[in-house]
Amino acid sequence: MRIAVIGTGYVGLVTGVALADLGNDVICVDNNPDKVALIQSGRSPIYEPGIEEFITRNLDEGRLRVSGSAAEATQQSEIVFIAVGTPPSADGSPDITAVVAAAKEVAKGISKYTLVVNKSTVPVGSGEMVADLLREAGVDDSLFDVVSNPEFLREGSAIWDTMNPDRIIIGAKSREAAARLIELYQPLDKPVLVTDLQSAELIKYASNCFLAMKISFINALSRMCEACDGNVGDVAKGIGLDHRIGPAFLGAGLGWGGSCLPKDTAGMIRVAESMGYDFRLLKEVVAINDEQPRHFIDRMEERLGGLSGKTIAMLGLAFKPNTDDIRDAKALVIAEDIRARGGKVRAFDPVAMDNVRALDTQISLSDNAYACCDGADAVLLVTEWNEFKQLDFGKIGTLVKNKVLFDGRRIYSKESLGKFGFEVFTIGSP
Ligand SMILES: NC(=O)c1ccc[n+]([C@@H]2O[C@H](COP(=O)([O-])OP(=O)(O)OC[C@H]3O[C@@H](n4cnc5c(N)ncnc54)[C@H](O)[C@@H]3O)[C@@H](O)[C@H]2O)c1
Repeated sequence: MRIAVIGTGYVGLVTGVALADLGNDVICVDNNPDKVALIQSGRSPIYEPGIEEFITRNLDEGRLRVSGSAAEATQQSEIVFIAVGTPPSADGSPDITAVVAAAKEVAKGISKYTLVVNKSTVPVGSGEMVADLLREAGVDDSLFDVVSNPEFLREGSAIWDTMNPDRIIIGAKSREAAARLIELYQPLDKPVLVTDLQSAELIKYASNCFLAMKISFINALSRMCEACDGNVGDVAKGIGLDHRIGPAFLGAGLGWGGSCLPKDTAGMIRVAESMGYDFRLLKEVVAINDEQPRHFIDRMEERLGGLSGKTIAMLGLAFKPNTDDIRDAKALVIAEDIRARGGKVRAFDPVAMDNVRALDTQISLSDNAYACCDGADAVLLVTEWNEFKQLDFGKIGTLVKNKVLFDGRRIYSKESLGKFGFEVFTIGSP
């Protein structure tokens, strides 16, 4: 099929290259000319394992093209995905300015029947809004359908997730509108659920909010474990073995960050409010998440006898491993908190440092984990990159001022680091 994907971020680019790899003719569109040029040269504007192989293979084999014009790409396509960003506005509600802009561009390119697919995470009613924008631009109703097809990929395993989704959700006004998309996804051979537009839009928010709730739930339990000398890892295992609960998203830690859970919980609270419902449960989920890193830094402050003048070596900046994404990363909130308490942060991350450099964070950056720990008053693990799991703590012990480690993601065992004389503070353990 001939496909256009508007937006070449984590979702759009991965969707585009995956659909090209399945044999479709795909045009990836971005209004940022630098991104277009980069992709055209076979490189990726985002860090995502494996993506450059997909880009080069599909460019070379002629199934992938890149363009700066959504209107031109739409003209040449049967199906157009809108996969632009929907960041939070100041009040937490989703900012859909980019979706509106993309829809207006798409409208200019429709001259034959086109299926317009909302892949961005958008509030309930956005499918109808896009349809209205197309009509206002003079596109006849017979020339388009708008369907919702929310995305569930995870950064860091985005290509695998796109090729192996748990389910494909299609929100449509009619079976006929959904049918083209069902055909497109047929090679994946995965369960497809067709719903009305509103339900599909809600499913995306509800999924992310439920996952956020699981993490906040286990983090609340981590506080109880710290108070009663329990071990939250065992508690998580014990409840996760119940098939009604499941083990996923029960890792206690510094809480959730990233480009999706913070904005989608805030967005859902606002969307609920606009419908006259006060989603109190979700507000508490967010409050627990905000409190979690503060509480860990309280423990650090107590152990170090204050943070004033202290240097903390922060391992990891990305909101999770295998991505360079630092949107709403806990590392940034924590660095700010440490600074507010008089301390300094020196950090290292395998791939996210360029993105941090582009912000004015006052975090000083090191070339590697060992340089980061050199002379530090304490080490704080924030992102559980694999390469941090097997660091030489014998060597780090000779570099740091104090052999004190705060493990914000529960990746170290107290016994193994104890051998090197490290005192380890773990979330959810005494
Ligand atoms: N990142 C994730 O893990 C993830 C997962 C599932 C769903 N989502 C949702 O998917 C959507 C996209 O997220 P993302 O992380 O890929 O965003 P992103 O910010 O990484 O990418 C958006 C891209 O769209 C481009 N763009 C913006 N306006 C445009 C326009 N008018 N025309 C052409 N290009 C335009 C930007 O330049 C950018 O490259 C969001 O709604 C997000 O909530 C994201």
